[in-house]
Amino acid sequence: MRSDANIAGPMTDPVPGPRTESTGVDVSRETPPPMDDTPIGRAAQLAVEALGRAGEGLPRPEQTRVIVVANQKGGVGKTTTTVNLAASLALHGARVLVIDLDPQGNASTALGIDHHAEVPSIYDVLVDSKPLAEVVQPVPDVEGLFCAPATIDLAGAEIELVSLVARESRLQRAIQVYEQPLDYILIDCPPSLGLLTVNALVAGQEVLIPIQCEYYALEGLGQLLRNVDLVRGHLNPALHVSTILLTMYDGRTRLASQVADEVRTHFGDEVLRTSIPRSVRISEAPSYGQTVLTYDPGSSGALSYFEAAREIALRGVGVSYDASQAHIGAQQNDPNMVEGVQ
Ligand SMILES: Nc1ncnc2c1ncn2[C@@H]1O[C@H](COP(=O)(O)OP(=O)(O)OP(=O)(O)O)[C@@H](O)[C@H]1O
Ligand SMILES: [Mg+2]
Repeated sequence: MRSDANIAGPMTDPVPGPRTESTGVDVSRETPPPMDDTPIGRAAQLAVEALGRAGEGLPRPEQTRVIVVANQKGGVGKTTTTVNLAASLALHGARVLVIDLDPQGNASTALGIDHHAEVPSIYDVLVDSKPLAEVVQPVPDVEGLFCAPATIDLAGAEIELVSLVARESRLQRAIQVYEQPLDYILIDCPPSLGLLTVNALVAGQEVLIPIQCEYYALEGLGQLLRNVDLVRGHLNPALHVSTILLTMYDGRTRLASQVADEVRTHFGDEVLRTSIPRSVRISEAPSYGQTVLTYDPGSSGALSYFEAAREIALRGVGVSYDASQAHIGAQQNDPNMVEGVQ
């Protein structure tokens, strides 16, 4: 199954529309004109390029990489990053599972996965020891992408877990006995450092911290890093912060580049060269139960998540990344930029 996905060829004809049938008359021998130089034309061109590259494939990790997307600060882009990176990796041919560990269930919503109260969910896995395989659902629209949804029940799990045996390692155990072959597991954490996040940190090898390019970006990170150290010291020696991703980067503001510089000085090589621009398309996609990769594949948001996924996949196999490809943030004339950043 793994190899099948990897040899999928590039998608053809990604932009549906009327085709020009040959009339038999050689109308013109001229080089065809460039695509319409309008925002829609440019977006269509980018979509063709992005989808064309989707089937190009990326090196797969030898073993499943379990990546914990965490930051106890709310609204920094954890869920957005989880679902869009997961979709990008799957579109590149990987098999990817998203575990939604936030009672809000935002990752489940964004992936178009039903998560009303009766749906078997990650709560059943953590609290009732239900096998992970019984709650995982395939994500519509993206082959190779799966989701273990969160329902509102999970809100009570922080308290219910306290009295259970091996309360910190229940997710780790569930993943260990999950038999489906996977290249990546991405875990979307809630904005807190309670038992749910601790379960994720015990289950993973890598921590990915999204940092929003705003004032106070680094505040509170020390606490997260101390928790990572504690879990590494006592419960999971393999755990390390492998990746920092700058999100909601607005190239028009000096603040964004100041924050980016500060983060790069502080964390060095862990910071991905690609950063994610603030983009309307990224924020719209979840309301259609989609990732930005399927909602608007040519948008700057989709392209930047695509590129970040490439960087993560290449780093994972020790291949250096060609930084000339990196999206360093949306430019002033980007039609997808949010107007008026606060
Ligand atoms: N690059 C972006 N451009 C524009 N809007 C964005 C971008 N990234 C995230 N958002 C929006 O910002 C809000 C917060 O993002 P998200 O839900 O991913 O953060 P979070 O860290 O998961 O939040 P929480 O801590 O509540 O779980 C959402 O409305 C999302 O659509
Ligand atoms: Mg979230």
